[in-house]
Amino acid sequence: MTPAPSLAELEADCWQQLATALEQKQNRTESHGFQTMTVATCTHLGADARTVVLRQVDADRKYVWFHTDARAEKVIQLEAFPNAVLLLWDPAQQIQLRLTIEPRLHTDDHVADDHWQKLWVGGRKQYLSAHTPGSVQPAPYPGFPPELGENLPSPEESEAGRPNFAVIECRVLAVDYLRLSRAGQTRARFEYEPNERFNWLAP
Ligand SMILES: Cc1cc2nc3c(=O)[nH]c(=O)nc-3n(C[C@H](O)[C@H](O)[C@H](O)COP(=O)(O)O)c2cc1C
Repeated sequence: MTPAPSLAELEADCWQQLATALEQKQNRTESHGFQTMTVATCTHLGADARTVVLRQVDADRKYVWFHTDARAEKVIQLEAFPNAVLLLWDPAQQIQLRLTIEPRLHTDDHVADDHWQKLWVGGRKQYLSAHTPGSVQPAPYPGFPPELGENLPSPEESEAGRPNFAVIECRVLAVDYLRLSRAGQTRARFEYEPNERFNWLAP
């Protein structure tokens, strides 16, 4: 029987899993559950949540990044209430992560430019929408100029989406880790701010 991991090993494994998920997405090899995450936000009316794609991980500095339309409701919410939670679930390993984050919006700077440069035209296509996400439309609207249909924009055409593109940089303040197992669940909390503090929790 392999010995149970220490808190430090478990914490390191969380970040390794995030990095692996990203690598598998980029290589289009396997579909790790951590490739998408639910962003939970506060609103003036209560709370909101939606799925986004994990785009970058910094395991050393404890940051993750995702992309969004700069006009989206979540951007307004994150600006008004700059605290949020990222929820991830990997069914293969039965692991849930809850990341308490402090978001930072990047639209017109080198961070957004770098991510935009690496985004292929298919990913850029959704930023060509003429309409604010969530705005009422008189008929179904595909989220990009309808004449594009299933085609990809040319690299030149895709540049029209750049003003609508935003990167949300998430400083991870704490991780709540839960692994389900018939042999016993494992729950732990890894806090980075204001001081590093790792604890086992009752599941
Ligand atoms: C699998 C999946 C991945 C998604 N990835 C993103 C994403 O990376 N960024 C994003 O802004 N929206 C993404 N969406 C759409 C959002 O869930 C949401 O519908 C949209 O961003 C509008 O949210 P908002 O009005 O709360 O801003 C994704 C949806 C799904 C189903």
